[in-house]
Amino acid sequence: MERTFYLMSPASVLAAATALAGDDTTRTSSIFAPVSTPADAAYTAALLVLAIAAAIFLVVAGLLAYGVVAFRQRPGDDGSEPPQVYGSDQIELAWTVIPILVVVVLCLVTARTVYDVQGALKPPGATLVTVVGHQWWWEIRYPELDIVTANELHVPVGEPTFIDLESADVAHSFWVPRLAGKTDLIPNRRNRMWIEPREPGLFRGQCAEYCGTQHAHMGLRVYVHPRPEFDRWVVAQREPAVADPTVAAGRRVFETTACINCHAVRGTVATGRFGPDLTHLMSRATLAAGATRMTREALHAWLADPDHVKPGVLMPAMKVDAPALDQLVSYLVTLR
Ligand code: CUA
Repeated sequence: MERTFYLMSPASVLAAATALAGDDTTRTSSIFAPVSTPADAAYTAALLVLAIAAAIFLVVAGLLAYGVVAFRQRPGDDGSEPPQVYGSDQIELAWTVIPILVVVVLCLVTARTVYDVQGALKPPGATLVTVVGHQWWWEIRYPELDIVTANELHVPVGEPTFIDLESADVAHSFWVPRLAGKTDLIPNRRNRMWIEPREPGLFRGQCAEYCGTQHAHMGLRVYVHPRPEFDRWVVAQREPAVADPTVAAGRRVFETTACINCHAVRGTVATGRFGPDLTHLMSRATLAAGATRMTREALHAWLADPDHVKPGVLMPAMKVDAPALDQLVSYLVTLR
């Protein structure tokens, strides 16, 4: 279950997906359960649009049903046409003006919502994050806190977090349904969005713009913490990487293979930025942007053949021999 999501029966795919989803969060990710300011605005606008659409549906479907029933063919009908109405000013005005009014109302409400959400200025003291979309993972940087992580965003509850969105390759879209609407990550452009969650917890997100083979495995997790808990997370993430002498052999493997061209571990020769920062790798709950849980076994399978876990992934298999692979995994699991 940890290793592969392809060539599996639908039942086992479902079981794997449930195992990944079930123990993390008791509630599903839905725009109808907002827990943050911009998501509230989108929810209110969505309810209004749905209400208007439902009213129009009821009127149209009701008239249609009435017409079908009341004017159905009866025995003895002479088969002649009913009276035809042409050029009625009242009718034509009605079916022109009412839809225009409906569209104007929807436009104004949408514009107001967009203005409210996008016009919000960053207050002093807000947490600032830069998220960079990659095929197929999220680079997460806290420029003011000197923290770099991946795929799991941590923010304080009850305070605004402003998120700058960039892309390293193609267009992606940042979407955590319970926290905010979608915002695209576009190459050579910086978009900004913000969230202000009112409940602590784990909120799941997903890349919402098709970005290649593993678009579906570009998962995102947002952990919302009470302030003291967030502060503890920040302190832990700012620590240099654990230097455990008992795994020196594995560290040597890491530092002498191509791993370091793409990955960074603070305080070592590894300073690559193409792949996720591994300084506190094991502080994350999932591996490969939510494709599997972060366990020793999953890491082992991942390093042996990343493409087997996530077909199409850009990380190559390093083809180190079995003892070296074990040492490498032993080193990586110390990076807490
Ligand atoms: Cu990134 Cu879809």
